[in-house]
Amino acid sequence: MENETIYILAIESSCDDTSAAVLRNNKVLSNVVATQSVHEQYGGVVPELASRAHQQNIVPVVHQALDRANIDKKLVSAIAFTRGPGLMGSLLVGTSFAKSLAMGLDIPLIEVNHMQAHILAHFIDADEMKAPTFPFLALTISGGHTQIVLVKDYFDMEILGETLDDAVGEAFDKSAKILGLPYPGGPLVDRHAKSGNPKAFQFPKPKVGDLNFSFSGLKTSILYFIQRETAKNPDFISENLEDICASIQYTIIEILMDKIKKAVKQTGIDQIAIGGGVSANSGIRAALLNAEQDMGWKTYIPKFEYCTDNAAMIGIVGFLKYQEKKFAAKNVSAQARYIIGT
Ligand code: KG4
Ligand code: ZN
Repeated sequence: MENETIYILAIESSCDDTSAAVLRNNKVLSNVVATQSVHEQYGGVVPELASRAHQQNIVPVVHQALDRANIDKKLVSAIAFTRGPGLMGSLLVGTSFAKSLAMGLDIPLIEVNHMQAHILAHFIDADEMKAPTFPFLALTISGGHTQIVLVKDYFDMEILGETLDDAVGEAFDKSAKILGLPYPGGPLVDRHAKSGNPKAFQFPKPKVGDLNFSFSGLKTSILYFIQRETAKNPDFISENLEDICASIQYTIIEILMDKIKKAVKQTGIDQIAIGGGVSANSGIRAALLNAEQDMGWKTYIPKFEYCTDNAAMIGIVGFLKYQEKKFAAKNVSAQARYIIGT
């Protein structure tokens, strides 16, 4: 049993990416992601269109993942899938597909919490890569969540603080929308920020207690600032795009770093792991690397492809749960609100 080779087929469909991955134990053999471009023109994810696109994508994406891994589906030990949190229609596509495939192949089904997966993505290839040791602090920053989580063990996590309104990814995306950039704007703000001056413009930082966050005030102040400046100069955005993006990104990173510093002080834990789509941001990655030098922290940043939504992170949770025989009931259903640790 000790040396049993476990193959996990993992499926992720919580938002607007359809993804399938195959893992051999904790190694990723394939990780296929089909991103939906249909939402770009709407400035945000349209749930109905997302579930329709998942329905179209799921079969080819799963086939491709098995092909690239060069694995016959008969070898698969278990199917792991995202149960939640996410958009109900999107989750249902992955959940029903995973359930029927597991039933057809007569193998166990493993349910995965998407936010837990963003954290446990650090354990992909853990024997070769530097992985955090328990306990550590995780900063999960995505389009739907902003949380500081105390990770005591793989499946023992406690939320220490979270956003009271917008998620940090939304702050990026909504700011980008104000600047006329397409959805999702986060990566574009990051790109433009690279050649801008982060101190060109100042935005107020929110005053929220404890380890909680708030980003809706920042979005409003950016909106008023842009309205005021474009009234004076209609070309203000195009003439200052780099500086505006750099200043927005700088403010967001300051907000995040201030809270992590507070969490380190409160808990005495100085191992920080980030996860979620926004951890692809070059500014936050640089700020954490600097903190290793300046504050003596140990920081863990996932590989780029395991930051944004992907099925490999669902697969690693599948592998960890398989070892503990944490299988789902055959009648398990999707759960749009699914809190870590419950
Ligand atoms: O984790 P994720 O792929 O999906 C959710 O579960 O939400 O995160 C998507 C979010 C979007 O808001 C996107 O704009 C943001 O991550 N994002 C970034 C970057 N890459 C993705 N935000 C800032 N800079 C980036 N480089
Ligand atoms: Zn995510």
